[in-house]
Amino acid sequence: MPSDIHVTRIDPADDAAVQQILDLDELVWSASGRVPRADALRDTPRRAGFVATRDGEPAGIAGSWDVELSVPTAKGGASLRPAEGLTWVGVHPDHRRRGVLGAMMAHHLRWTRDEQGRSIAVLKASEPGIYGRFGYGVASSELMSSFARGTKFAAPQSVRDIAELTTLRTTTASPDQGARWHALARECATTLPGHLVRSAEDSQRLLTDTPESRGEREPARLLWATRDGHDVGCAYFHRTPKWDDGSAAGKVGVFFLLSVDAGARLALAERLVDLDLMGSTEYWVAPDDVLALWQPSLRSMSVSGVADNLWVRLVDLPTAVAERGHAVDVDVVVQVRDEILTDQAGTWRWTAGAGVGALVRSDLEPDVVLDISDLGAVWLGGQSLAARAAAGHVTGDRDAITQLDLALRTPIGPVGTIDF
Ligand SMILES: CC(C)(COP(=O)(O)OP(=O)(O)OC[C@H]1O[C@@H](n2cnc3c(N)ncnc32)[C@H](O)[C@@H]1OP(=O)(O)O)[C@@H](O)C(=O)NCCC(=O)NCCS
Repeated sequence: MPSDIHVTRIDPADDAAVQQILDLDELVWSASGRVPRADALRDTPRRAGFVATRDGEPAGIAGSWDVELSVPTAKGGASLRPAEGLTWVGVHPDHRRRGVLGAMMAHHLRWTRDEQGRSIAVLKASEPGIYGRFGYGVASSELMSSFARGTKFAAPQSVRDIAELTTLRTTTASPDQGARWHALARECATTLPGHLVRSAEDSQRLLTDTPESRGEREPARLLWATRDGHDVGCAYFHRTPKWDDGSAAGKVGVFFLLSVDAGARLALAERLVDLDLMGSTEYWVAPDDVLALWQPSLRSMSVSGVADNLWVRLVDLPTAVAERGHAVDVDVVVQVRDEILTDQAGTWRWTAGAGVGALVRSDLEPDVVLDISDLGAVWLGGQSLAARAAAGHVTGDRDAITQLDLALRTPIGPVGTIDF
């Protein structure tokens, strides 16, 4: 007999429901239980928490963060759009593989569009095999890189001159720096697509670092970069001391590195790879990050692999198209598959002029056939439609695919996204 699965959003003021979400999350993620209850409750997604029941029993949870995503503008650069960041997804071990996740995903996508009025949902995946089936595409990737102590960055003198005008100050991360972090993150987000900006409230939480959550490492630090009295960058990092046969071999972990320009990035990076008593600095960079381009090759960064970074799901296609820049003019008929949000599936005429895109319904034969996940994959410029066509995911008329591909390409690939 099919299960009876219901998904409901909790009342943010309902403490018992928030506790229920936390309890199930700790079970799903095998939490150590060392984090004090009050701290764990503070970090539980209360604004938008969801509970799924199966045949009347609590079976699954999910949360959604209030985020902004930087999407490409027509001439390079990016602009921020409101999005929903899916998080805290978990299904009770007694209810797995019975469709609970599927029900929660469909609910979240409809809720994002119909109740939040947002055109994009995003997530970071714990496992790569789960989310493609729900119309998400891998929109950005990161190199799992580590920089040896004293790494030299071959930045040109013009960039170095700007770095030298940049002042660095180290502080300990604290919630009272949340507003400053948030303002800087919003400014950086206009430089390139792929930035994900947490809300001002969540930024404060992000900078709250309790002894129980940090294990052996030191308290999180913020390294602020300023120029002419303005913030131009900030690194969120921590050090973990280590000794190998009497030699200092500590590790610096960089959680995130914000910078408004290459000079600020160089100044921050040079400090982070040259901290006394440390042996290496782990920081995962996007392939187009200037830090990678100042190395002789990617091999110099001890890249241990490539990881998917942000997954993007378009939930309101006409709005998403209108809100994203187009690099060249387009006029193609596109057939979109969407098995969950079926009302945005079907045939559309996709036009763009002077950088601005528009979608209207069409009865014409399609020039291009694709899945909504193909659009998620190319939305930030991290993949091309041509590559997806070569793989057989996108089909249709070659010239039409090329036209749409050129319109959606970006000069520089997306940045990596802060964890959420
Ligand atoms: C991953 C998890 C949420 C799946 O929940 P679930 O209710 O068992 O999933 P469903 O029964 O709704 O499955 C939906 C589909 O996803 C697939 N799927 C589920 N878990 C998967 C996994 N870990 N890897 C690949 N595919 C998976 C199912 O096979 C099913 O595929 P189908 O539609 O082709 O039949 C659950 O196993 C869990 O809580 N895992 C631990 C926490 C976790 O990884 N959360 C994800 C955070 S990003």
